[in-house]
Amino acid sequence: MALPLAGRTAVVTGASRGIGAATARALAQAGARVALMARTGSQLDGLAAETGGIAVPCDLRDPAALQAGVEAVLNRLGAAPDIVVNNAGVFRVAPMEELAKETILDSVALNLSAPLLIVSAFLPGMRARKSGHIVTIGSIADRKIFEGNALYSATKFGARAMHEVLRAELKGSGIRATLVAPGSTDTSMWDDAGGGEFPPRSAMLAAESVADAVLYAVTREPETNIDELRLTRT
Ligand SMILES: NC(=O)c1ccc[n+]([C@@H]2O[C@H](COP(=O)([O-])OP(=O)(O)OC[C@H]3O[C@@H](n4cnc5c(N)ncnc54)[C@H](OP(=O)(O)O)[C@@H]3O)[C@@H](O)[C@H]2O)c1
Repeated sequence: MALPLAGRTAVVTGASRGIGAATARALAQAGARVALMARTGSQLDGLAAETGGIAVPCDLRDPAALQAGVEAVLNRLGAAPDIVVNNAGVFRVAPMEELAKETILDSVALNLSAPLLIVSAFLPGMRARKSGHIVTIGSIADRKIFEGNALYSATKFGARAMHEVLRAELKGSGIRATLVAPGSTDTSMWDDAGGGEFPPRSAMLAAESVADAVLYAVTREPETNIDELRLTRT
């Protein structure tokens, strides 16, 4: 039997580890050719070798580097990808008055500007083809407030807003949009999050479970749009 994503292409940002790497593996195992975007070239090369994918190292906080990455993806895939997973993100926790200016600018650039730029770069090709799927990795913090989380939450509320507007604008276009919003997930994101009381890693979701949710959304019959999936640990 043919694999569900045979002949399809995908781009996953933040694919060097964590949820992005798990998602890239899941999409590749389902048959997709996956372009992997993140900064750490060595990690991307390893995953590209493992999955038959394409490594596109770039710093997505830098609009020029992002644009060069987009062009590399278009050249290597030959067309706009069938699936885009906006996953790359950073999590910094601190009371508002303790957030350094650089931390604020970095988080907004990666968590909010980069997804907007990625969508604006790939959407015209999807529109012309009348097909595609844009997956936004949200968070429980895209609608729930936690103290110390102003920066991250502001970016994730924004990413959810982008998804909801996309969903409205793309209705009937053949292009789908899904928000996958996990609760705390056991990845290296927690290593340098900053101060705060966090749940134990053993009580978090697995990155593979989030990847499975993305796979579910992108393998539905074309008539069905999974608007939103919210995941928390049982
Ligand atoms: N873990 C959780 O509890 C959790 C919960 C809800 C939502 N999320 C969301 O899930 C997504 C993935 O998080 P994760 O937990 O998998 O985090 P992670 O393990 O820290 O992975 C983050 C990924 O983003 C990439 N990245 C970081 N800075 C980058 C930059 N400047 N340019 C390009 N890529 C960059 C990293 O690769 P390089 O360092 O190689 O660039 C890495 O591949 C994020 O959007 C996060 O907000 C996570």
